[in-house]
Amino acid sequence: MRRFALSFALCLGLLALSVWSWNKQQSGQEQQALAELGRHLFYDKRLSANNNLACSDCHQQAYAFADSRRLSFNTHGKAGRRNSLALFNLASYDSFTWANPLQTELAFQALIPLFSDDPVEMAASEIDVLAQNLTLSQYDYAPLFNAAFGDTEISLTRITAALAAFQMTLQSYNSPYDQYLAGNKQALSDEAIAGMVLFESERLGCRRCHGGMNFNQTLDAQGRVQLNEFHNTGLYYSDMGYPESDLGLYEVSFEQSDNGKFRAPSLRNVTLTAPYMHDGSMAHLAQVIGHYSRGGSLNLKGVQGDGRLNPNKSELVSGFGLTEQEKNQLIAFLAALTDSKFIQNPRFSAPNEQANAKLR
Ligand code: HEC
Ligand code: HEC
Repeated sequence: MRRFALSFALCLGLLALSVWSWNKQQSGQEQQALAELGRHLFYDKRLSANNNLACSDCHQQAYAFADSRRLSFNTHGKAGRRNSLALFNLASYDSFTWANPLQTELAFQALIPLFSDDPVEMAASEIDVLAQNLTLSQYDYAPLFNAAFGDTEISLTRITAALAAFQMTLQSYNSPYDQYLAGNKQALSDEAIAGMVLFESERLGCRRCHGGMNFNQTLDAQGRVQLNEFHNTGLYYSDMGYPESDLGLYEVSFEQSDNGKFRAPSLRNVTLTAPYMHDGSMAHLAQVIGHYSRGGSLNLKGVQGDGRLNPNKSELVSGFGLTEQEKNQLIAFLAALTDSKFIQNPRFSAPNEQANAKLR
């Protein structure tokens, strides 16, 4: 009897296990279908008011899903006020965008480029028009929605969920630096290794704000991760703060001490994401390093003033001396964070270039 009960329990257990793994497989497949739908939407210009701008226009694979412009252009051909952010390893951020701790949901974030009128990006009018636009298109979405959701209904929640699922597949962990950490000591040049030592050093202090595997975590002096930190790095000091066009975290918190504070972006793929900073004001890495080495930027053109004197500037940006050789070493290290497989991965590319090209 006991034996029977035991084998019965075992059978039940096995059954439960197989149902569980079948379910898991199913949801894995659904997740894949969802991401695939998201990829099509990400590259589709018909999500914008003038049918001329896709997510992928400001987030291009060749630039690690950032763009190469100082400020990106919206559906009306006008420049926005911020530099486009690269998209990869997104789960490693506490919040999204340059300076908004409240922006924590990827699906929700997509509503801004789609519908916002400040900033205007894609300026789609409403979901009904959007859905109609997609339904009437030559590009057949029905099978994609069907595969992801089991029916062909187009809704905003489905669109944003699919966009988020696609963006979560953008994983980039195959740079020479990663290969080096995995044991391939040939992956980094001596110059890059010297640069890594500088980057990790207390003298330069880069790690305090570009910590962790993705170089985007704030660490305290003991190396513990600090969540939701934003920093004023002394880019500007004009009229008692940063230029009015972008006050960073202050715009969310309305605290004077948050004027000019921004999120530290990941430094992976950083050679691909020029120009740099929230306003794209620095064209080259050498310029960025010069800024940190001086302990803030002196602006003689445009918004004049010395960012070094900004009272909100982080004490971690206090300046350091650096020889020309050390500067080159640091740049060589940053270049070793480039994942060239990531920007060529066909799974992340435009799903059907020809179909989209016809519609341009
Ligand atoms: C007109 C150019 C433009 C378009 C089109 C655009 N974006 Fe962006 N994107 C930006 C800019 C600029 C930022 C930084 C915004 C900020 O900090 O306020 C950004 C930020 C983001 C972020 C935050 C990334 C991070 O590291 O925090 C995500 C995610 C994102 N965009 C996804 C999308 C999706 C999805 C679409 C299409 C529905 C899209 N974007 C369309 C320019 C654009
Ligand atoms: C106090 C925190 C802090 C320290 C220390 C720091 N950074 Fe940054 N870093 C940031 C923030 C915040 C930004 C974005 C600033 C902005 O746009 O206004 C940034 C931006 C950058 C960028 C531009 C990235 C892009 O995609 O635009 C690079 C490159 C960079 N930092 C490298 C370094 C290096 C190298 C060091 C060490 C010498 C360093 N950082 C030290 C916080 C810091």
